[in-house]
Amino acid sequence: MKAVRFRTPGGPETLAVEELPDPRPQAGEVLIRIAGAGLNRADSLQRLGRHNLPPGASEIFGMEVSGTIVEAGPGIDGFIPGDQVMALLASGGYAEYVAVSVGHVLAIPKGIGLIEVAGVPEVAATLVSNICHTGRFAPGETVLIHGATGGIGVFGIQLIKTIGGRVAVTASSDTKLEVARRLGADILINYEEEDFAKRMLAEGGADIVLDTVGGSYLAKNIEALAPFGRIMTIGMQGGPSGTLNFAALMKKKASVSGTLLRDRSPEQKTAIMAGVNRLVLPFLTAGAIRLITERVYPLSEVAAAHAHFETKAHVGKILLDCRQTD
Ligand SMILES: NC(=O)c1ccc[n+]([C@@H]2O[C@H](COP(=O)([O-])OP(=O)(O)OC[C@H]3O[C@@H](n4cnc5c(N)ncnc54)[C@H](OP(=O)(O)O)[C@@H]3O)[C@@H](O)[C@H]2O)c1
Repeated sequence: MKAVRFRTPGGPETLAVEELPDPRPQAGEVLIRIAGAGLNRADSLQRLGRHNLPPGASEIFGMEVSGTIVEAGPGIDGFIPGDQVMALLASGGYAEYVAVSVGHVLAIPKGIGLIEVAGVPEVAATLVSNICHTGRFAPGETVLIHGATGGIGVFGIQLIKTIGGRVAVTASSDTKLEVARRLGADILINYEEEDFAKRMLAEGGADIVLDTVGGSYLAKNIEALAPFGRIMTIGMQGGPSGTLNFAALMKKKASVSGTLLRDRSPEQKTAIMAGVNRLVLPFLTAGAIRLITERVYPLSEVAAAHAHFETKAHVGKILLDCRQTD
């Protein structure tokens, strides 16, 4: 099959489509003929040689896909060849085929496009595990999302509004904030012009901060919290470390958590995907959450797709069409 794997660290130009052996499904796995694959920040870090793959994961890029089941390994219940599905992967998505544990596969909701749904598994699983599970979101709470128009942001705004939350967002421009407003965000903060922590305090504070920035935002994220607030750190775009002021944390009775999805155990990923199936997919089926796709590139143009992603100008997801390999 054609696939894109890690060779030497470097820029987008290091990415190339190669001929590699087809994967074979093991017990408990299905083989998917991939249609779409989503780009994620971890793919860029992997390409730069700054992201460790979970043990046993292939060096083929790609953490989320959509496609059609072509083979079910021994002992598979619930899916048959021909079913259209999406899947969360440790790796292996920038390819024509992938074998994946059936617990990490979900049926595609009716009315959703086969390629565009490739951008759902990583985002939805991250939101469910951080907002609903670890973050213990309750209806009526306020959630602050940094990176309003990234893949996480555009989906997160809609999901949290749909489950009864108030949404605050930060972004670098008013144009991006206007997108967030149209998706339902209630509190819009241009972080280039306004101190987000002071604004959040004026708005009553955040019960949950979905933090994609990390180190450079640690103090301000604590300042932005309501009492008993939870900071859920999922990204380090502002650096991996910061100074934790325990006095400020204790005064807020607050907590700081960090999670990674990619290296979780297969059992944890199965539980998270079951959460996505129950808590998110009904809203996609009902049209309450719209998928926002910036652009779809052929797999053969994977380098251009990465270069586009790294401008940070995109709104929503950048995807690959893995059926287009030359
Ligand atoms: N822990 C996990 O399991 C997990 C899972 C999925 C994603 N993530 C992480 O979550 C983050 C967001 O993912 P995504 O898919 O939404 O990425 P994305 O589509 O690239 O969006 C990231 C957004 O963050 C904003 N941003 C970038 N650098 C910033 C900075 N230094 N300070 C403030 N804002 C900044 C950018 O918009 P502005 O122009 O508005 O700044 C951009 O829209 C990434 O860091 C990703 O690695 C983690």
